[in-house]
Amino acid sequence: MRKKIGILTSGGDCPGLNCVIRAVVSHAKLTYDWDVFGIPYATQGLLERQAIALNMHGWDLRGIDPLLNMGGTILGTINKGDTLAHVDEMLASYQALALDALIVIGGDGSLAILHELAKRGNWNLVAIPKTIDNDVAFTEWAVGFDTSVNTIVDALNRLTFTAASHDRVMIVEVMGRSAGHLALHAGIAGGADVILIPEISYTISGLCQHLAELRDRWRRKFAIVVVAEGAKLCVEYTENNTNTKCGRGQYIADQIARCSSNCIDTRVSVLGHIQRGGIPSALDRLTATVFGKTAVDLIAQGQFGQMVAWQNGGVVPVPIADVVAQSPLHVNPQGYLVQSARSLGIYLGEKSNE
Ligand code: F6P
Repeated sequence: MRKKIGILTSGGDCPGLNCVIRAVVSHAKLTYDWDVFGIPYATQGLLERQAIALNMHGWDLRGIDPLLNMGGTILGTINKGDTLAHVDEMLASYQALALDALIVIGGDGSLAILHELAKRGNWNLVAIPKTIDNDVAFTEWAVGFDTSVNTIVDALNRLTFTAASHDRVMIVEVMGRSAGHLALHAGIAGGADVILIPEISYTISGLCQHLAELRDRWRRKFAIVVVAEGAKLCVEYTENNTNTKCGRGQYIADQIARCSSNCIDTRVSVLGHIQRGGIPSALDRLTATVFGKTAVDLIAQGQFGQMVAWQNGGVVPVPIADVVAQSPLHVNPQGYLVQSARSLGIYLGEKSNE
C-alpha cells in the first residue's frame, strides 16, 4: 500500500535543511511513490495535527528549485518548549495523522525528545543529524556544519586585513554551545593565532605570552583570536562586574587589555546568527542529499529507530538510542586536528591541560 510519511525540522535552523527535504520528497516519490507530509514547527505542528503535502517541483518559480540553495527551513522550527509535558496529547495527535513513518531532522536535543516520544508511542522514527555545532555523536558530519565553518572562515579572512592594517588583536566569538568543533575547524582554516575551546582550558597569562611572542619573535603586530562561546566561564569577570553577563569574546578582550596594561588594541566581533544563515555549501548539499535518500531507504527496509550517520566516507545507520546516550560529542584534545593546530604554532591552551 502507498505509504504516508512525515518529515519535520527541529531545533535551531541551519543551511541545508531544505536540501534534505528536497532529497526525501524526490526519492520517496520517484522511487517508492509515497506521499510526504511536512509537519510545521516541529513538535508544535505535531501537537496541532498539522501536515502539509510536499511535492517535487511544487513551486511556481519558472522551474527553479529553491530548496537546493535556500537557507533556513521551509517547515519552520522551534528550539524551546516543554514537549515532554504534553506526551499524551502528542501521542494522540501522531496517531490521528496516521503516518507510516516519521523523519526527524534534528540535533542531539531534538533527537532525545523525538526518540522518547517514539519509544512511548511505538513510532517508526528515522533521524537525520543537523547542527552547526557538529556535536551529534557517531557522525563525522551533520548538515549545516560545513556552511557555518565557511561563513566563519570568510569572516576571519576579512578581519585579518583590517587587523593587520591597524596592528590590532581581533577577537572573534563563535557558536558551538559546549563543543569546540566550529571554533577549531574554522580557526585552523581561517588562519587564527589563538583558538579557545571548551575542551581545553587555557590561562590568560599563556594567551598573553603567546601574543607577546608573536610580536617580539615573529614581528607580527596583529593577531586573530577565535573564541568558542562555551570556552570558559566568565567567573573572574562577573565577580567584578555584578549583573553583567558577558560574552566570552568580551571577556577575553578585557583580559588581554589588563595583562598588556592596555597596550594591545583589541576589537571584538560576535558572529552570532550570521553563522546559521547563508546558502548551503556544496558539502552540506551533498551530505543532505545522501542523508535524505538513505533515510527514505531505511523506512522502505523497515529499519526504524536509526539515525543516518557519515562514517569513513559512507553512510551507515546508527541506533538513535546510542546517539542520544553519547551526545554531545566533544573535540578530542589529543586528536589530529588539535595536534595539527599546535603544529602551526596556534595557541589552544597549555598542553598540560589536555
Ligand atoms: O545549537 C545551535 C546553536 O546555533 C548554538 O551554536 C547556539 O548556542 C544556539 O544554537 C543559539 O540558539 P538560539 O537560536 O536560541 O539563539
